[in-house]
Amino acid sequence: MNRSNAALQLDEEGRLLHFLTIDGLGREMLTEILDTAEGFTGVSERTIKKVPLCRGKVVANLFFETSTRTRTTFELASKRLSADVLNLNISTSATSKGETLLDTLRNLEAMHVDMFVVRHASSGAAHFIARHADRGVGVINAGDGRHAHPTQAMLDMFTIRRHKGEFTGLRVAIVGDVLHSRVARSQILALNTLGVSEVRVVAPRTLLPSDPHGLGVHVYHDMEAGIRDVDVIIMLRLQRERMQGALLPSEHEYFRLFGLTERRLALADSHAIVMHPGPINRGVEMDSQVADGSNSVILQQVSYGIAIRMAVISMVIGTQNLSMQEVSA
Ligand code: NCD
Repeated sequence: MNRSNAALQLDEEGRLLHFLTIDGLGREMLTEILDTAEGFTGVSERTIKKVPLCRGKVVANLFFETSTRTRTTFELASKRLSADVLNLNISTSATSKGETLLDTLRNLEAMHVDMFVVRHASSGAAHFIARHADRGVGVINAGDGRHAHPTQAMLDMFTIRRHKGEFTGLRVAIVGDVLHSRVARSQILALNTLGVSEVRVVAPRTLLPSDPHGLGVHVYHDMEAGIRDVDVIIMLRLQRERMQGALLPSEHEYFRLFGLTERRLALADSHAIVMHPGPINRGVEMDSQVADGSNSVILQQVSYGIAIRMAVISMVIGTQNLSMQEVSA
């Protein structure tokens, strides 16, 4: 566990001040996030899809990198908590005119924003903003470079818990481009923290970090051996935009070796669930029959993403409120 990540993300009582990475958070905190999200799942099904928990708060979505699913589910989560939401598409705003990240931050703070949700192509961007943010302002990492995507990992844990109950005793395979995936890194940390008995990664050597065993996983280069008897299969997108040089012969060849087909899926446990963070490349990572089949929970992941993001936003805003009250007391 990384102490500086724990120190930056938690207050003295162990409450969540920012949510930047799974690293540094223990099983209790991850379980508290899952349990809090559980309480929010019903809100989306009401006729009035709102609770007043964050009324009067302003959440700014700072997306320096494009995203549809993550940005819209964060926006809905804030709105369902009754917060006011600002969406800043930074690629078309001041930063592209030369303003530094810190100046953007200071200007938004001058507008009394209470929370920043940050997506950035550079690893460490959300940590940087959290270190420089005013007291009382919470930061949530919505994906930074290849580093971390902790709300995605938590919505994936939520999906697994909903379908499988306990984490202990599960075998989970993460398949594909682990090297470039912030999602895989956060998932591996969360799965190990929650006590899953076996985490496997299944990938060609060119799409794994140089010391994959250092991640605390079992490594497979053969898809069929890698998914045999597993309870959960998590497919990753090929991150073409992050690849330098020829790491793959062709997408066709990748699908032949690592694509998830119905024939391969039959090797996993018969109740295995199939997950993907999206966006899916059909015919590259998996067949359409699998993506739309009865084992697939890919669209549920999207719905659960709203509840998980509501949980994290409300927990961080709650802790930041307390810390402000302590200062003024
Ligand atoms: C992931 C991301 O952006 O890291 N997608 C997402 O958050 N929905 C995974 C990906 O882009 O492959």
